[in-house]
Amino acid sequence: MENPFAEGENRIIRPPGTAIVIFGATGDLTHRKLIPALYNLAYDDYMPSNFVVVGAARTPLSDEDFRKNLFESVKKHSRRTINDELWQRFSQNIYYQQLDGTSLESFVKLRERLQSLEKKRAETLNYLYYLATSPSFFGPIATNLRGAGLVEDPKAAARSTSLIIEKPFGHDLASARELNSVLRKSFAEEQIFRIDHYLGKETVQNILVFRFANGIFEPLWNHNFIDHIQISFCEDIGVGSRAGYFDQSGILRDIVQNHLLQILALLCIEPPYSLSDADAIRDEKVKVLRAIRRLKPEDVARQTVRAQYTKGFVNGESAIGYMEEKGIAATSQTETFAALRLEVDNWRWSGVPIYVRAGKRLAKRITEISIAFKRAPESLFRGRQVGELDQNILAIQVQPNEGISLKICSKPPGPRLRVRPVVMDFTYGHSFGVPSPDAYERLLLDSMKGDASLFTRDDEIEEAWDLLAPVLEQWALPAGGKVARPPLHTYEAGTWGPAAAATLLKEQKHRWRRL
Ligand code: BG6
Repeated sequence: MENPFAEGENRIIRPPGTAIVIFGATGDLTHRKLIPALYNLAYDDYMPSNFVVVGAARTPLSDEDFRKNLFESVKKHSRRTINDELWQRFSQNIYYQQLDGTSLESFVKLRERLQSLEKKRAETLNYLYYLATSPSFFGPIATNLRGAGLVEDPKAAARSTSLIIEKPFGHDLASARELNSVLRKSFAEEQIFRIDHYLGKETVQNILVFRFANGIFEPLWNHNFIDHIQISFCEDIGVGSRAGYFDQSGILRDIVQNHLLQILALLCIEPPYSLSDADAIRDEKVKVLRAIRRLKPEDVARQTVRAQYTKGFVNGESAIGYMEEKGIAATSQTETFAALRLEVDNWRWSGVPIYVRAGKRLAKRITEISIAFKRAPESLFRGRQVGELDQNILAIQVQPNEGISLKICSKPPGPRLRVRPVVMDFTYGHSFGVPSPDAYERLLLDSMKGDASLFTRDDEIEEAWDLLAPVLEQWALPAGGKVARPPLHTYEAGTWGPAAAATLLKEQKHRWRRL
């Protein structure tokens, strides 16, 4: 079987010995994503030959009970089947440490634990700290790690120490800046790995390969040939058990600020001077984010739409409205759908609208990027009842059916000259015959190797927040104030969002793609 992580001539480069400490070890992310991802890495033989995983959380728990709980979760969430013998070997490296994230004393104990575990290994282990906790602990944990002597200077150290940090990274520009500055008191920027799990998805990583490894697309990749771009993130699920978090956040913060702006940046960047230098890619992404025209307060009503779902039917089953969800206030103004019209204001993208939409409780789960090319002149076909020629659409389906398709105009067989659109398709499943690894597998492996290419840098996060600041401000205006607050539309669960979303595209005679 082909090895998706192979480098060079299918060479497996295993990361150096690592101790991974997961803070928030009893939480959902650890159980659903992190441990299954590590188990799958072990399954594929990509884990370091020496590793320990220390789960840390407040609940008292023995190593054995922790392993038992994890086993149940791995059985449920692992991509690979469970191999009992492998699980036994793998789980012998997992330990549990009771810890209070705000107490320095707890971190001193953690250091002693790590030292004693390391003694039994043949090599010095790198320390990788994973913050899978609520964001209010990010700062205190980083500070206590430094206080307990668990962070080493990246230049001088015999071992590397790094910090992986989950989203949400801040709530707005000010809080993101504040968090960056708190983290930098304890870790150097090169030691901080901010997760955006969309960057770990195969289809998102493929954007750069697709653009720069094919001679035929890049010459067309600009305002001369591209008419507009759409990026759609659609989920059929609602807020589930995350009502508390989501109601404070909304979909703009939850999805657009990170996942969709990262996709947009990769679609629009200039070729970086190297793909092996994390900063080369990230420098280019920052330039794109900086070049997106900031909306003036008066633009927000014209260029953005927000909405909330009401009750309806999703996949044939009845679904309650957002305000009826458990943990959501009946007066909540939080948006579960957002659509924006953006423009990257530089030479390459001048005049090309980029439409972005994200929503929960839509008709189905699909994330798609589509690039609409300018129409061919119709003069040749005039008077032949051909009608308007279709645009060539290059569609990248990020999920669930990972693949790329290109819509082209073609003549159907027969004596008449007719023109019909046809689609050329490539799907990962058919072409590669291996299931894509989960994004967390790739991201954990890269972080163990110290490769930050697929992680976001401080300035990227801040630019993304800066870009959305005017939208967040206008959407948060008090009702009945002097300046009118843009309306919060509604849409029935199980539909494609509010009718108002179409108005964003009307000015330029565009339409959302039917997905
Ligand atoms: C998370 C969001 O970042 O991404 C969730 O917080 C969302 O609200 C999830 O459901 C979607 O991820 P995926 O990989 O299932 O598309």
